[in-house]
Amino acid sequence: MNPLILAFETSCDETAVAVVRGTEVLSSVLSSQVDLHARFGGVVPEVAARAHVESIRPLTHKALVESGVHPADLDAVAATNGPGLVGALLVGHSFAKATAWARQLPFVGVDHMEGHLMAPRLEFEDFAPPAVVLLASGGHSQIVHVSHWGEYRVMGETIDDAAGEAFDKLARLLGLGFPGGPAIDLAAEDGDPAAVAFPRALADRPYAVSFSGLKTSVATFVRKAKAAGELPPLADVAASVQEAIVDVLVQKTMRAVADTGVKVLGAGGGVIANRRLRARLTEEATARGVKVCLPRPELCTDNAAMIGVAALLHLERGDLSDWTATVDPGRRLG
Ligand code: KG4
Ligand code: ZN
Repeated sequence: MNPLILAFETSCDETAVAVVRGTEVLSSVLSSQVDLHARFGGVVPEVAARAHVESIRPLTHKALVESGVHPADLDAVAATNGPGLVGALLVGHSFAKATAWARQLPFVGVDHMEGHLMAPRLEFEDFAPPAVVLLASGGHSQIVHVSHWGEYRVMGETIDDAAGEAFDKLARLLGLGFPGGPAIDLAAEDGDPAAVAFPRALADRPYAVSFSGLKTSVATFVRKAKAAGELPPLADVAASVQEAIVDVLVQKTMRAVADTGVKVLGAGGGVIANRRLRARLTEEATARGVKVCLPRPELCTDNAAMIGVAALLHLERGDLSDWTATVDPGRRLG
């Protein structure tokens, strides 16, 4: 069975709509609010919710037209039900539920992080449990063991900032703008990752990560170097900062892979779009004979196709949401 699923994602600052047929993406469109929030240096919840309200209807039309699917042929409707910003979540979730109700279709609420976790399924047929998945986004950094589809054990996570949050805060500190991940990725392009030895935290804890100490260390370094008139080129600082974050994520993930003995490594979340992280994960996994499944960058950052493919799993199991279902901004995976 390859059901046609109309999926919505509005947990933060992207309105995203997709149509998937099974694990195949027929269309995946989004309207980014980055410019709206950039002048505030972060996402403003009320601004995000209003922007979702404005774009969700035209975007749904666009997703359907691009997919070539007639609404009457849809088999199910899905939407992110958390975690995220409550107002933003409610827009997509309510719109999706109303669409499903009007057509009397099954409705599936999906955990945003489960969406990121399932994204590799959109591109890799051999992405299957048992697997370890690194989830690194603006709000979360988790290493998850997937023993069977739908069975998730969070092996470790951040004890303070998420990796994407660290990229965003460090980019601001370096005057690189928002969102910080892509800015650091770009600024680091020709930099020397070994120029400055920033600390790697929590070496003694197997799968937990921490980035708040790095922020303090970079701030102190920049202040002292500036005062001494010895600030290295921005590219070198950016590459060194990036390396510190990437190093920690790669080391902890590979440790989880080794300890569980899995032969499949997946990844999801905006930070997985980072070029250095992708290269390092690929190199390390390949050297250990582990199949690495990294979705293409636009399927790493927030999108609705990942919600569609996660909904497929629930649909196959008859695990549907009812008409009273609502959002849970604080929900946790596993
Ligand atoms: O998954 P996502 O799109 O939204 C959340 O669920 O949070 O992740 C957004 C995060 C932001 O912190 C952004 O700076 C980061 O992903 N990001 C990157 C890159 N592209 C996006 N971080 C590092 N390198 C990138 N190329
Ligand atoms: Zn996300």
